[in-house]
Amino acid sequence: MTQTGMDTDVFQAFVVQLERFVRERLVPAEKETEKLNRVPDAILAEMRDMGLFGLTMPEEYGGAGMNVSQYVETIRILSWASGAFRALISINIGMACSALVKNGTDEQRKYWLPKLADGAIAAFALTEPDSGSDAAALKTSARRDGGDYVLNGSKRYITNAPFADMIIVMARTEAAALPKNAHISAFLVPADTPGVSIGKPEEKLGQNGSQIADVILEDARVPAAALLGGEEGTGFKAAMQSLDAGRICIAAAATGYAARILDCGLRYAAERKAFGQPIAQFQLIQAMLADSKAELYAAECMIRDAALNADKGRQVSLEASCAKMYASEMCGRIADRVVQIHGGAGYLKEYEAERFFRDARIFRIYEGTTQIQQLVIAKNMLRRMAG
Ligand code: CAA
Repeated sequence: MTQTGMDTDVFQAFVVQLERFVRERLVPAEKETEKLNRVPDAILAEMRDMGLFGLTMPEEYGGAGMNVSQYVETIRILSWASGAFRALISINIGMACSALVKNGTDEQRKYWLPKLADGAIAAFALTEPDSGSDAAALKTSARRDGGDYVLNGSKRYITNAPFADMIIVMARTEAAALPKNAHISAFLVPADTPGVSIGKPEEKLGQNGSQIADVILEDARVPAAALLGGEEGTGFKAAMQSLDAGRICIAAAATGYAARILDCGLRYAAERKAFGQPIAQFQLIQAMLADSKAELYAAECMIRDAALNADKGRQVSLEASCAKMYASEMCGRIADRVVQIHGGAGYLKEYEAERFFRDARIFRIYEGTTQIQQLVIAKNMLRRMAG
């Protein structure tokens, strides 16, 4: 994704249009999205028309050609609204597009990128019932059979699976166990492939409207041309590279949502009166608001820096994990403080603070828990020290 990016003026015009779209179309559609547990069709069509599915795709494939800095700014703005809208597009971009651009063959890029830019929906299937944080322990198998591969196994918690047109499936191409990541390959699997079925959408704590489900593969046969990059054993590194891109995106999403939550807390504090004056006048409330603002600002700066480094073509696993860990924890702290500022009202479904609190929780878990980010940061510190 090291591309120069959209022309600055064109990007600024897009930002103005996006901010209006988020406030006028997405925020008012949040309640319906929660109730339906999916993004309403009319909104989805508008998101497609705005080109949101192809933000970083190269222009030659029908995308907007954004660089990482422009992309994370777009995600931050979009994430003022419910994560259900953002989750639909960020897998396309952070996972599928980045995997195809970095590791796909020419044919795979030509076939998939225009479709994804146009709004086909991708899912990224790495996690399994017995392998989450230890991603390299996955068991799904891909057996070569003539000109095809036959896939068997099951994947868990796969975002967008119920809506997906294409699923990137990480599978083991050889039974040998060591080194365990060397035999993992990635496959571009059309969701309508016979033998692919999708489980019932899970009932979740928050971010309703975004669906996760199991993906079950039972003798799902794909042609050898579906092997990402055409080379066996490259899937684990491709998945890790996609997660680098995905984690900056989650950091930006947590930051955009934290800004919305803090705005809600600030407005409530300015309106709610106690002891004869708005509670915003009390220094203990001000301390919560000030700490939140400073932490939000720090997260925004981290993400910008990580994105700038990515745009310079640098390997940003460490920076992406720092940003993801800090921003997701920060969003959780702000959501907690905003419930506290609301007092008893913060515990009621009637107020947005309750939903924000539930929605914010997942940022610390998906695309690698906080503990996995710590592990990635420390591993990269040691690698850099060793040169
Ligand atoms: N870029 C390129 N290569 C990388 C890399 C990266 N970012 N990270 C690791 N690698 C390479 C290493 O260099 C190493 O290569 P060699 O074998 O040639 O030395 C190889 O990959 C193995 O690396 P590690 O030894 O670090 O691997 P590990 O097995 O110890 O595990 C881990 C590393 C960081 C714990 C990894 O398993 C991990 O990130 N786990 C969390 C998984 C995760 O985030 N899951 C979320 C899934 S997606 C989701 O949440 C929901 C959704 O729907 C999107």
